[in-house]
Amino acid sequence: MTTAVLIGVVVVALAAAAAAFAVGWRRSARSDWRLNLDAETRAADTPVRASLPDADPELEPEPAPIVEQAASVAVEVVTVQSTVEVSREEAGITRRRFFNRAMGATFGVFLAGLGLDMLAFAWPRVSGGFGSDVNAGSVQDLLAQAINADGSVTPVFIPSARAYLVPRPAVLSVQFEGKNVDAGGVMALYQRCVHLGCRVPWCQPSQGFECPCHGSKYNGAGEYFAGPAPRNLDRFVVKLTANDELVISTGSIIQTPRALQPSVKYPQGPSCIGGSR
Ligand code: FES
Repeated sequence: MTTAVLIGVVVVALAAAAAAFAVGWRRSARSDWRLNLDAETRAADTPVRASLPDADPELEPEPAPIVEQAASVAVEVVTVQSTVEVSREEAGITRRRFFNRAMGATFGVFLAGLGLDMLAFAWPRVSGGFGSDVNAGSVQDLLAQAINADGSVTPVFIPSARAYLVPRPAVLSVQFEGKNVDAGGVMALYQRCVHLGCRVPWCQPSQGFECPCHGSKYNGAGEYFAGPAPRNLDRFVVKLTANDELVISTGSIIQTPRALQPSVKYPQGPSCIGGSR
């Protein structure tokens, strides 16, 4: 047992000695690398090494190779970020702002349309159109136009008053008394049929107003004769100016019931729409 231990100790000691020898030999080989150079190389190397007195031979850098390099231009790219103040108009509008503006514009258009409608409704009252007093001109001239040479009648239509001007019958029904529906021998009849509102044309042969919509008929004084109309044609209050001009008050509409005793004869000829009554 003791022998084996001694042999082990000797082996370990020999191994340690061998390792120490190897390390020492390697270091000595490095320090003496010049010995492997030929004489010319060592001579060329000596002056350079002489200028580096403290240089460590092991750490001495290899001389940099001389390489011809093409001339290059250094380009530096610089990114510049900056903050620029812009107005809301320049920055654009958000979706919410867009919808707000759209709603505002729609409401504005609605108000503008409403205002225009109200203005259009009131405008005739201040401009002399329908709904206000309409000057139809000289009453004598109107009568001359309305009464033909043969005694027949051709009403004068006044578009701005929407009225037919007809001569006042020699004897007017009592239902019109005191209602100012004639002036200077002229009456102004509303063109609108009192049944459902159609414009009632004049029928020259029959000398009456005949509605083509449902067949209502009125004589030359606008008095009911036949059809579904519930009353006479409506008419306007009229008056004369100091110059004998007829003024039609289209804002004052007079309604009268069917005349029991017509003021003028009807029909005086063939009907324009047919039918006897
Ligand atoms: Fe004139 Fe009906 S609208 S008869």
